Amino acid sequence: MKIDGKPYRSIWRAPSGEVRIIDQRWLPHELRIATLATREDFAAAIQEMWVRGAPLIGATAAYGVAVQMAHDPSDAALRETWHILHATRPTAINLKWALDDMARVLAPLAPAERADAAFARAAEICDQDVEINRRIGLHGLKIIREIARRKAGRRVNVLTHCNAGWPATVDWGTATAPIYHAVEAGINVHVFVDETRPRNQGAHLTSWELNSHGVSHELIVDNAGGHLMQHGEVDLVIVGTDRTTARGDVCNKIGTYLKALAARANGIPFYVALPSPTIDWTVSDGLRDIPIEERGGAEVTHVQGRDAEGRIVSVQISPDGTPARNPAFDVTPAELVTALITERGVCAADETAMAAMFPDLATPR
Ligand code: MRU
Repeated sequence: MKIDGKPYRSIWRAPSGEVRIIDQRWLPHELRIATLATREDFAAAIQEMWVRGAPLIGATAAYGVAVQMAHDPSDAALRETWHILHATRPTAINLKWALDDMARVLAPLAPAERADAAFARAAEICDQDVEINRRIGLHGLKIIREIARRKAGRRVNVLTHCNAGWPATVDWGTATAPIYHAVEAGINVHVFVDETRPRNQGAHLTSWELNSHGVSHELIVDNAGGHLMQHGEVDLVIVGTDRTTARGDVCNKIGTYLKALAARANGIPFYVALPSPTIDWTVSDGLRDIPIEERGGAEVTHVQGRDAEGRIVSVQISPDGTPARNPAFDVTPAELVTALITERGVCAADETAMAAMFPDLATPR
């Protein structure tokens, strides 16, 4: 997508061979580009959320393996790198998917062949992500177009949570891809952007990218969605996911579940934009089987913003020493999901439909 009219991906290889990312900790206030030069840089970038969003975490890990192979292509380094990067964040399955993919490609090769092969495979993973998201967008566009037709051209109102936009992927985003396609198709679309406490990915990132692309939107506090739904102001919800089980339970940013409950109570369709690498075919019961990241309490007791002098500051919003709990994700049971928008088409959130959509990926159980 574009920043100030210039095309960007969220991760790329510079002509010099260096791997670069947009350091998302400073958005929307500053566009800072960082170079990741060592395995430790990659691990820190994922863990400390310079990069975030399930598909981008996977793509970054793939390049982390490649950079390490250029330093040391031994079997031991390959194994160790898998473990170091895998330990960075526990919930998004794309991380393991990308690391397993890199290991599958690299393990059979002679060490001298590994660095080139690793960079090539990491680039393919990135290109594949872009194409997956573009296709998710085209399938989601059909849903938005149908709602626009029913509303006889009146504005279609989409609510989204967190940032499942292009900064969370290599490009396009998952939940935002249908919106970008709809805008390009001339459909009158408006987006309600949940701020998404505690880290405010909606306020910081989704608002920023929609603003950059001229997409009509309003930032709302996390608690406003239910009210807007009760008053007929939301036509559909589209969210992303960090891990979806083989039966369609959807793990996504904390607060997604409450939006799904409110959508169900108000008869509003609740869609999940789901790239196939985000499906964990090894688990079924999302509540039982998906590890939920618990992050530090400082994200709850403080908020980051920009002061009147333009400095980026962290502001404490609770009394000194307030204990805080910070689960970063929740699970929306499949029953609350209207459908999954995948790169192959729209499919019900259930085991049979998902296995029929991805017969080549589903593992028999
Ligand atoms: O903690 P984050 O910012 O990595 O969480 C991101 C989300 O929850 C996204 O909705 C999800 O990764 C899908 S991104 C296409």
